[in-house]
Amino acid sequence: MILVTGATGFVGRSLMAWLEREGIAARAYEGRMNNPITLREELEGITTVVHLASSEARGRNRLLNHVDVDGSERLVEEARRTSVRRIIFASRIGADPLSMHPLLQAKGKAERIIQQSGLEYTILRSSSLYGRNDRYFELIVGLAIWSWPFVWLPGGGKMGMQPLWVEDFVRCLVKSLSRSTLINKTITIAGSEQLPYATLVQQLLDVAGYRRIPLPIPMLIFRPITPMLFNWWYWPAVSRYFMDRFFVPEVADHDAVFRQFGFQPARIRDTVSYLRRSGLAFRIFRH
Ligand SMILES: NC(=O)c1ccc[n+]([C@@H]2O[C@H](COP(=O)([O-])OP(=O)(O)OC[C@H]3O[C@@H](n4cnc5c(N)ncnc54)[C@H](OP(=O)(O)O)[C@@H]3O)[C@@H](O)[C@H]2O)c1
Repeated sequence: MILVTGATGFVGRSLMAWLEREGIAARAYEGRMNNPITLREELEGITTVVHLASSEARGRNRLLNHVDVDGSERLVEEARRTSVRRIIFASRIGADPLSMHPLLQAKGKAERIIQQSGLEYTILRSSSLYGRNDRYFELIVGLAIWSWPFVWLPGGGKMGMQPLWVEDFVRCLVKSLSRSTLINKTITIAGSEQLPYATLVQQLLDVAGYRRIPLPIPMLIFRPITPMLFNWWYWPAVSRYFMDRFFVPEVADHDAVFRQFGFQPARIRDTVSYLRRSGLAFRIFRH
């Protein structure tokens, strides 16, 4: 039996649907990460935990420590007391306990807690994920709608991106459940296309049916603006961690998914038809 934390989130919803389709017995963890009593109760009879709970979408450092770091520690402590043998953890490219970026630092600390837990683990470090209701491509298009007639390109849009389709990420999670070769491994994965941010934005706007004039914004200006913007003005759908990807490249080997999981991730243009719907302008106001 598998327990999934964060099952109601962007990745979790997709994972639960996959598990159901595959006929794999799983249930969603319904408590809070820092509640040891609920954790202990829900971990009873569980052999594998897929750990997706995170506060990254909320954009608050205090919550990152509370949920992502302390929450992972509580989970590991309680898991060791029960029948759990294995944890599968969703992390991010650039995760590092010493990172200057709070999200990547929290992910790095959580990785270390899991790696040193004594439990079997598989950590999937991924680039940012996209798919219907994401906080990535939909926000790029949503922000471009509001910045008419321009689209902002931080750092001139030169930063390399390698987005991964959420369904492909979930497929990797599901394959990790049954592969003993992935035990105690930390694996870096990303999509099959690596392209500069400017090209990615152009592709997405073409699909969504918007024309915008590219407006390069030097990093020297962009760097001080973002903490001010996101500290003073809480904009729920656009977490300030969204901006990390302009400072830390989210790239990996082109064939990383193929080598580890034996399939090629989908191409962007084949998986973004969801950007054609109306209402994306308001997507940036929704969490
Ligand atoms: N999305 C990406 O691009 C991406 C890329 C690489 C790695 N990841 C990692 O993949 C995991 C899932 O990401 P996601 O995009 O699905 O995140 P998400 O949509 O923000 O979902 C987060 C989940 O965590 C739960 N959660 C938050 N605080 C909690 C708490 N205190 N106790 C228990 N549950 C709590 C949320 O439930 P409530 O809403 O009920 O609080 C929700 O189900 C995260 O660890 C993330 O860092 C994501």
